[in-house]
Amino acid sequence: MTTIRYANDKFELEPNESVLECLTNRGVPVPFSCRSGVCQTCMMRATGGKPPETSQQGLKDSLKLQNYFLACVCYPDTDLEVALPDDDDIQAVIPATVLSLKLLNADIMHVELECHAPIDYRAGQFINLFQNQALGRSYSLASVPHEDDHLHLHVRRLPQGRVSGWIHGELRPGQTVEIRGPGGDCFYIPGNSEQGLILIGTGSGLAPLYGIIRDALSQGHSGPIHLFHGSRDLNGLYLSGELQDLVKKYSNFNYVPCLSGDGVCHGFASGRADEVAFKQISDLKNWRIFLCGHPEMVKTAKRKAFLAGASMKDIYADAFNVSQSS
Ligand code: FES
Repeated sequence: MTTIRYANDKFELEPNESVLECLTNRGVPVPFSCRSGVCQTCMMRATGGKPPETSQQGLKDSLKLQNYFLACVCYPDTDLEVALPDDDDIQAVIPATVLSLKLLNADIMHVELECHAPIDYRAGQFINLFQNQALGRSYSLASVPHEDDHLHLHVRRLPQGRVSGWIHGELRPGQTVEIRGPGGDCFYIPGNSEQGLILIGTGSGLAPLYGIIRDALSQGHSGPIHLFHGSRDLNGLYLSGELQDLVKKYSNFNYVPCLSGDGVCHGFASGRADEVAFKQISDLKNWRIFLCGHPEMVKTAKRKAFLAGASMKDIYADAFNVSQSS
């Protein structure tokens, strides 16, 4: 039986149990968000024993050398002594003031934050926002550093979502929250400006895409840029006016709102965003693809894009956590 030591406690790891599950199931307040090794919210440090390599994927080499690991994907077969990270070694937590909160549709809240210290990010990356020391969630940035003075998030309220429920129901302008970041590699890289871009998003997956599109356009991207934003019904779409304004301003930008439910009206494409996109553009050789939103859509679209000729290095994906407790 593998043992996990934390502070003065000693826990036995159950079969197929991650270090995160082992600790949180026994009341240790380890923050987490995606539970899939992406957001790095659950980073811990092994102060005794060696964490498995698979639990260090995506971490900087300097952190790996210091035995940092991601608790949600850590399944050790030897004993470990673990601790929460030292703030000096990882990205510092930054306080940020909530400037405004505005509903973009019935479920998605626009959150504007003013950081108390500079944060160096790319449009489309995510930050972790903490409700308290033990509870944080990742949210993508819809803002563009050289265009927007503050950070913008689109937070979808999930059923029984602890952090999203708190943001929608209790957070108020003027309050201070703590954030950490940025993270993620789903962003626009300048260069090859004539390459076509296809962006496919569902729900609040529009947040990073909205940032990426404005970033690319403001940096003079001249190739065609096609956005496919999908929802089941009309109420799930948002920022349509702002996107139509971009269509008028930039001749290379095209916006296709997609509805997958019944009764699709004029001006909307019928079907799931990824299906509509790959029907309209079937040969994806040399296109750059951005996929954000529901994990099933992201997974399916990634495979379809590859089969339609896109190179894996040109596919950028950000699958959102949609679990009920997020
Ligand atoms: Fe572990 Fe996201 S990386 S919770």
